[in-house]
Amino acid sequence: MKQFEQLSLLFSDHLRKFSSELDSGRPSELYQPCSYILSLGGKRLRPLLALMACDLLGKDTQAALNSALSVELFHNFSLIHDDILDEAPLRRNQPTVHLKWNRNIAILSGDALLVKSLQVLQHYPKEEAMQLSALMCKTAMEVCEGQQLDMNFETQTSVRIEDYIHMIRCKTAVLLGCSLQMGAINAQAGPENQQHLYDFGMNLGIAFQLLDDLLDAFAPNAESFGKQPGGDILSNKKTFLLLKALDLANEVQKKEIVSILQMPGDQGHEKISRMLDIYKILNIKAECEAQADAYTNQALASLDKVKADSDKKKQLQQFAAQLLKREV
Ligand code: IPE
Ligand code: IPE
Ligand code: MG
Ligand code: MG
Ligand code: MG
Repeated sequence: MKQFEQLSLLFSDHLRKFSSELDSGRPSELYQPCSYILSLGGKRLRPLLALMACDLLGKDTQAALNSALSVELFHNFSLIHDDILDEAPLRRNQPTVHLKWNRNIAILSGDALLVKSLQVLQHYPKEEAMQLSALMCKTAMEVCEGQQLDMNFETQTSVRIEDYIHMIRCKTAVLLGCSLQMGAINAQAGPENQQHLYDFGMNLGIAFQLLDDLLDAFAPNAESFGKQPGGDILSNKKTFLLLKALDLANEVQKKEIVSILQMPGDQGHEKISRMLDIYKILNIKAECEAQADAYTNQALASLDKVKADSDKKKQLQQFAAQLLKREV
């Protein structure tokens, strides 16, 4: 069996035990949405990164299992709240928590997952738990900042690509960095290895969000993508696609983009198809892929600097390559 699969199984087993306890929590209105979102799966990238970092640095992956659980719980909390913010109807191809239940339940069950993500770190010895919690708290604040910027940008007209990169670094990339650094802390790594792994994850996370934005517009298979296609266009998200299109557009195309942005939600279908036409004419898909490639290469350069067995690094290199080919 391939290493990825082994680690995935190890993690699923740990998560299953945790979820079944959660599922029986009372009041059930608080806990069931938590076990619902966890039961919908997802790619489990962040826990895998924590486990792989620990393994890379020569420690048994069991040591990173609670870190892996912590980052996945945090991620699922952020998805429940993100779907409220983005008014998203679908998550992992199923109704979002705020639609299946309601907004208040989504807020509270998200809060519960956030608290749990910190609580599971208390299983570690005191000093290690403190380091892990501090890292998680720093990361969580950055995610909040990124999410606020993402919303601010919806109504802002002069967003630059560097502002966008800062925003996705915060809302998405830092959690991938954090996952790897937590695994490194569990392996008792020194500060330099921790930092290189964090940088690897952060740059990979930027590439990952660039591709997420791309898939939001151009997912080859909407069902396996599991989210509402064109959701970012509907809510005027200032994605790399839109900002690059504005950069490359001639005057006529710019006017078209501005008028698409002003279209109301009840013309959603037309709004999406007109924006996709512009993206196609300007070859935005290739631009976005090239940008994701560049961040993946930066990620790999940081991985190179980690002092660890070069054969074991191949696993993370392979992981980065697979992420670039993501279709979900
Ligand atoms: C979705 O993350 C949110 C983003 C940061 C783009 P994932 O694509 O990792 O979500 P799941 O866990 O696989 O559903
Ligand atoms: C998500 O960004 C970032 C966080 C969940 C913190 P998106 O809003 O692009 O994620 P999806 O596309 O809904 O998964
Ligand atoms: Mg969203
Ligand atoms: Mg969002
Ligand atoms: Mg998205």
